[in-house]
Amino acid sequence: MTNLKNNRSIFFQNKIVYILDQTKLPFKEELYKSSTYQNTCFAIKNMLIRGAGSIGAAAGFAMMQASFEAPNYNRLNFLNNAKKIIEQTRPTAHDLFAAVERVYNKALSSNDEAEAEAQLIADETAEAGRLIGIHGNELIKTGSRILTHCNAGTLALVDYGSALAPIIHAHNSGKQIFVYVDETRPRNQGAKLTAWELNKFGVPHVIIADNAAGMLMADGKIDLIITGADRIAKNGDTANKIGTLEKAVLAKEFNIPFYIAAPFSTFDKTIETGKNIPIEIRDENEILTISGADITGKIHNIRIASPGSKAYNPAFDVTPSKYISAFITPKGILSSEELKKY
Ligand code: MRU
Repeated sequence: MTNLKNNRSIFFQNKIVYILDQTKLPFKEELYKSSTYQNTCFAIKNMLIRGAGSIGAAAGFAMMQASFEAPNYNRLNFLNNAKKIIEQTRPTAHDLFAAVERVYNKALSSNDEAEAEAQLIADETAEAGRLIGIHGNELIKTGSRILTHCNAGTLALVDYGSALAPIIHAHNSGKQIFVYVDETRPRNQGAKLTAWELNKFGVPHVIIADNAAGMLMADGKIDLIITGADRIAKNGDTANKIGTLEKAVLAKEFNIPFYIAAPFSTFDKTIETGKNIPIEIRDENEILTISGADITGKIHNIRIASPGSKAYNPAFDVTPSKYISAFITPKGILSSEELKKY
């Protein structure tokens, strides 16, 4: 990414939170500048910034901004209210709740501590992606054909990415890999964002319709699957972008390893199974309409569904741990059983 500090999808500098606006990608690279916690909440809710790790960093920065904004006479009430508002932006990614809690606890002491903690969360998230890339690369053989779903790259994890980090690492090591990118309806994070990131790194790939993945697996065209995660329960059940579950079930049928790549901030130690993961239901217009650019680069949103019809839009699904071959974490490749140690 050309115009970003350290290539990050979000960073804080001179009292401003800078966000690479993902609603404009891949057509325009534009930075959204937020100087209030409410504006950062707007960016999370409306997916200018998205992907669990980046949402966590944004939420941490929002809590830090709330700390700066809190008046002395009413500080605690202001902080408590801001915490609730930030937590209501998006319900599924655990990283958001973990980050808000950490920065809130520091804000109780001072603005400086809140700022240091928010920066630390962004730095730790980026570093987790770097380590996931190194460990995940071990699972990728020369010539592998890899399927990925949604976007789990730098855009989604501050830097490096979760699912994309091993893929880019393998490509940079000369392994001659090929990537099948699920378009990832309804918002097309695969077609728009993953493809944009893979292009930047020169990774050979094609975009496929979400419903093509089964046929490719049946035809022996996919060697492994790597996706990211939004929340992982203690037993390894994993919430990720809607459509992940069906890929995992198909992978088991066709004997294809299915890996989840995630930093530890995505693991929720308070819930036993995936049944307890809150699933976000988003606006029906994400299904009824689609956005894209014309040849001049102007972005339009058009209706594609029958006028008068309504839509139901769950944003995530839960893949039971029995379908997950292993987790790619900053501490290495872990089975569901090994997860419990951490
Ligand atoms: O709704 P989104 O685009 O925020 O969903 C993102 C995903 O599902 C990613 O796969 C997930 O957050 C992992 S990326 C760190």
